[in-house]
Amino acid sequence: MNGAGDICNQLYALARERNGEDVVLDLNGVPMLVLQRHESADQVLRLRAAQYRKNMAWLRQTLGASRFTEEGDAWQARRRLTHAYFTHFDRGRTCDLAGRHGQLALRRMLDDSAAGAAAIDDDVLRRLTLSVLVENFLEIPFPATGFDMALITEMMEYGSAYAFVPPGRTGDFYQQGLRRLPALRREIMRQMRVLRDGHLPVNPLLAGMLAADAEPGSGIVLEHELITFFAAGAESSASSLGWACYLLARHPEAQERLREEVLRLDPAAGWPALSRCAPLADFVSEVLRLFPSTPIVTRQATVADRIGAHEVAAGQNVMVSLIGIGHDRRAASDPWALAAPGAVRGPCGGTRMAFSIGPYICGGKLFALVELMAVVAGFLRQARFELTSSALPRFHWKVQMLREGGQPVRVVPWSCAVD
Ligand code: HEM
Repeated sequence: MNGAGDICNQLYALARERNGEDVVLDLNGVPMLVLQRHESADQVLRLRAAQYRKNMAWLRQTLGASRFTEEGDAWQARRRLTHAYFTHFDRGRTCDLAGRHGQLALRRMLDDSAAGAAAIDDDVLRRLTLSVLVENFLEIPFPATGFDMALITEMMEYGSAYAFVPPGRTGDFYQQGLRRLPALRREIMRQMRVLRDGHLPVNPLLAGMLAADAEPGSGIVLEHELITFFAAGAESSASSLGWACYLLARHPEAQERLREEVLRLDPAAGWPALSRCAPLADFVSEVLRLFPSTPIVTRQATVADRIGAHEVAAGQNVMVSLIGIGHDRRAASDPWALAAPGAVRGPCGGTRMAFSIGPYICGGKLFALVELMAVVAGFLRQARFELTSSALPRFHWKVQMLREGGQPVRVVPWSCAVD
């Protein structure tokens, strides 16, 4: 591929070497203004959002046009289809679903560790978050759909491979390594037909999407919306859960303290009790700050502007580095360390920045936070997370930020944990 997978390693290096500075990088021959200051990100993503268009042609090219890639009327129409469902969901039910699927995943992780696995299998976490997403929003158990999760994951890899390809050169990259894409897309579309053929129940969210898809000239394709929804909604939460397991394992004392907080809660009290557990919310925020699962947000200037010290020409590509913003030394004396509960809540805090800000803020932010808190709490009640390697992470970007080789973590039941 074209080295796009390495972008996170570059952004961590940049955060160390040019901390708190916005910097121009050359990515595959494309000059990119990388924003590492929260003030600059605020200008581009929120205050002057109308001057910076989404720069997601690469994602549209692989996964099709969707709410994630579109703007203007095309975006509004897609947003209307999903937004109320994504934001007005039943928190208690989502918390219970996440707890239940979290326990199934934990059992697999415990078995894998008992069998000698030295790393967490990313697919276990993917299945967990896809199950919660599909059951919550489509009201269908994920196995009933018959979707092959591995195909969606593979599609994400192709999506990111296109990310920094210079305009007009996608053909070269396609020739070089992406020959499988059309066949892969056809197979995913074929599997998704099950949502149209009347064999599965149709809930109001799906019914609305089907109606929009059938409307002449709408340009809305059910499968394109759903592939991106599954890919971005489930992969991002799965990646965050992997980083949460890693952070717990790397900080045994913090894990112990958090476990005590969680054990104080009545598990039967569900979301109302969990939502008030500030140390857990702060831990999740730290996971998102130190290891933002969607680490870059890309835009393109439509008119000339000035961002801090940089003159921006119309057409300039701009990338917000959530890694750079999360590690800004102005926000914490040691931004590389796991902060104590309550310490990093300002403009660089994980919960504030990792879902982006402004009109295109992540549609699933609240859902993801409920899910992450419920799963992490369930994990902590039952198991202990131990590091199997102290090597520093190497990152691999597949639209989401993953760790090469998987998270080096062993999971042991509390009853067997040896102090
Ligand atoms: C830890 C989990 C997640 C993270 C870190 C995350 C992060 C993000 C980011 C950074 C964006 C780009 C925003 C921009 O362009 O300014 C985004 C967009 C989006 N996300 Fe998430 N996301 C997560 C989970 C989810 C989930 C679970 C859902 C669905 C329930 C979801 C739905 C969306 C949607 C619909 C958009 C497009 C927003 C729009 O343009 O209208 N996300 N997300």
